Amino acid sequence: MKEQELVTYIDPELKFVRPLMYAQERPVYQVKKQGSFYVLKAFLVDDPWDSNHLNTERIVLERAKDLPGITRLVHFYGIINSRIALLKEYAAGEDLARSPEYKKEAHSLAPLKKQLNDVVNALHKLGIASLDLSARNIVISPDEKSAKIVDLGNCVLQENVDAKTFVLHKINDLHDLERLL
Ligand SMILES: Nc1ncnc2c1ncn2[C@@H]1O[C@H](COP(=O)(O)OP(=O)(O)OP(=O)(O)O)[C@@H](O)[C@H]1O
Ligand SMILES: [Mg+2]
Repeated sequence: MKEQELVTYIDPELKFVRPLMYAQERPVYQVKKQGSFYVLKAFLVDDPWDSNHLNTERIVLERAKDLPGITRLVHFYGIINSRIALLKEYAAGEDLARSPEYKKEAHSLAPLKKQLNDVVNALHKLGIASLDLSARNIVISPDEKSAKIVDLGNCVLQENVDAKTFVLHKINDLHDLERLL
């Protein structure tokens, strides 16, 4: 199925702009609706890992809806034509993996690190951890003044694990951030 065809099937108002994903089988597209950019994620529902990813992302984004530093949920489509799909805010800029110029030596990323640290702590307080803080999942704005965590589909919710496991996930998140920036 061509990209625009897939997008139209999920929401006829959306225009495909460009692919953003790293894995072809899991479409993540930049799309446009009424002059604004968004991100459409549309994974196959019969893949348990992928559908769990999107269901988790939905729960997390709903719970964290007032947090700056993440891309907010705009719409959850549910299942359409064998795909589970959601629309979220688009963060302008590049993810860290696509921006080799964002190196510790070349830029002072300290303000961004502080920003991201605050977001991570706020997510932890909401009972959300295991944030998958990899270079692909953090987008830096074009002016390099702000950063957003763009993929919260791999999170673990506090109520689903024992207390010790949750603490370990939180510690790992802080280590991941330390390694990245
Ligand atoms: N809201 C967003 N704004 C801008 N770019 C985004 C946004 N969401 C995702 N992207 C880009 O799309 C890529 C893939 O999105 P995402 O990480 O959500 O998918 P994924 O299938 O979980 O990928 P992976 O398994 O590589 O983490 C990201 O690495 C990022 O470059
Ligand atoms: Mg990702």
